[in-house]
Amino acid sequence: MKILAIETSCDDTAIAVMQARGTSIKTLAQVTASQIPIHRRYGGVVPEVAARAHAETIIPTIKEVFAQLGLDPDRAMKKPPIDAIAVTSGPGLVTSLWVGVTTAKLLAREWDVPVFGVNHMVGHIYSSLVNQKLPEFPMLALIVSGGHTEIVWMKNPTSWKKIGSTRDDAAGEAFDKFGKVLGFSYPGGPEISRRAEKGNATAIQFPRPMINDGTYDFSFSGLKTSGRMWAEAQKKLTPKLIADGCASYQAAIVDVIITKTVRAIEQYKPKTVVLGGGVSANDALRNGLLARTKHIKGVKIHIPEKQYTTDNAAMIGAAAYFTKNKFKSSWRSLAANPAFEI
Ligand SMILES: Nc1ncnc2c1ncn2[C@@H]1O[C@H](COP(=O)(O)OP(=O)(O)OP(=O)(O)O)[C@@H](O)[C@H]1O
Ligand SMILES: [Mg+2]
Repeated sequence: MKILAIETSCDDTAIAVMQARGTSIKTLAQVTASQIPIHRRYGGVVPEVAARAHAETIIPTIKEVFAQLGLDPDRAMKKPPIDAIAVTSGPGLVTSLWVGVTTAKLLAREWDVPVFGVNHMVGHIYSSLVNQKLPEFPMLALIVSGGHTEIVWMKNPTSWKKIGSTRDDAAGEAFDKFGKVLGFSYPGGPEISRRAEKGNATAIQFPRPMINDGTYDFSFSGLKTSGRMWAEAQKKLTPKLIADGCASYQAAIVDVIITKTVRAIEQYKPKTVVLGGGVSANDALRNGLLARTKHIKGVKIHIPEKQYTTDNAAMIGAAAYFTKNKFKSSWRSLAANPAFEI
């Protein structure tokens, strides 16, 4: 079956066509129109601006994906070779979600195909399984994104139990705020990881909040304050100091995340661990997780391809498919759900 997947929860208009068969799903075509250059001048995402950009971009992007498949885009918009539509219905910015959801409702009605209103975080959970076979369960998911830091326990593909989450800022936010202090453009996370490559991760001893508290919860607001105070205390932020600051700050975030995840793996004993969310593009996190779980027997770690770490539509198609009918809706009842919890 072919699924048209739509993701507009924040500042990316992302469209994909996925081919699902048996226990696997792969990407046939995809386009992600990023709004980062538009929002950069405001230092963050402006909801009204994001919604307008989605509205202008969504149909041309769907057509672009159809063209990638070798179809005539205008003809395909009338009667495409699509069996179902998957769209992010939440969580996210309500004005942004509305654009994707409304488009999905109209197309599902017009094309007479089923429509799935997918949870965005479940999308991030399944991002490492795009172009892969469904692995063995139980599964433990570590989601680290711009708005969430969560460890989720899954006995099977359609059940999820949050065993830990952030009490204040998400890991991505902690990266972005430190990036802002250092004068990097939004979002600061990728630039911090680039600068960190040349830095010494042990140069500054940043705190590792809640690392040994026995829970799977996180807190990054204290670290954020330490980062700002360290930057303000420097007479001059030279490239060497910035590199050391970035490497040390990144090490603190990654250390807390991996330490808690390893502990959860040892306690819950999953067969599979999946990593997902924008921060999973970070090489220190990717390599660190693999290195620190190498000794644990009987568990397979799935790290997403970099293109599926930040928001994308392929993961939404994968989540709709792997969760069977859990997110099945209809064009009449489908609605944006900005506070959609998992
Ligand atoms: N290499 C990297 N190192 C650290 N952080 C990164 C890297 N690449 C991206 N990020 C961070 O990932 C975040 C964006 O991720 P994502 O697109 O998944 O978040 P979001 O969709 O805004 O949030 P959510 O999914 O929680 O709603 C940003 O905070 C960004 O700085
Ligand atoms: Mg996201």
